Amino acid sequence: MKNLAVFCSGFGSNLQAIITAVKKKKIKANISLVVCDRVDAFALVRAKKAGINIYVSEPENFKDKLSYERGIVRVLKKHKIDFIILAGFMRILSAYFIRQYKNKIVNIHPALLPSFKGKAAIKDALDYGVKITGVTVHFVDEKIDAGPIILQRAIAVRDDDREDTLAKRVHKLEHTLYPQTIEYLVRNKILLKGRKVRVNK
Ligand code: GRF
Repeated sequence: MKNLAVFCSGFGSNLQAIITAVKKKKIKANISLVVCDRVDAFALVRAKKAGINIYVSEPENFKDKLSYERGIVRVLKKHKIDFIILAGFMRILSAYFIRQYKNKIVNIHPALLPSFKGKAAIKDALDYGVKITGVTVHFVDEKIDAGPIILQRAIAVRDDDREDTLAKRVHKLEHTLYPQTIEYLVRNKILLKGRKVRVNK
């Protein structure tokens, strides 16, 4: 079975959805590790409750980004991690890190990329006035929110949506789309050719 490391920084609702999918055997893989950059993240409570190994490492405690990331890579190697699942991890990984796990890192983004990259995607989509938004799961490369797209799902924006109401539907969608993508990933159903991704369901 493949070993997953889930990277989080905050609430961890996607982590929870992945934990549940693994428990229900919808994803046949081990969540071997949760990596977190904040001691106070609620995601850690979820990981502890599920009995998952945790590696908490705050970048402030390292002299630079490289030594911070080297610390993470050491732990990932120790746990023989096959795939890295970014789930609300609020840090940009360097080219060094990405090279270590080329095409093995995925991320979920709460908008239809390449629109609304960055941290405030849901608000940005709402403020822009789009009628359709959604969720994207993509491979992670050196550029931010720009790697090859694996899967996307769309939802309609309602006239009376506020950020919180729209966010609720976006997150609900994330919680099915991300476990589904990971299931394809661990079964080797995702084929990457250049920027193009084919999912053999
Ligand atoms: C999600 O909206 C995800 O798309 C984005 O960060 C958020 C994380 O939420 N990358 P949670 O910590 O999984 O609840």
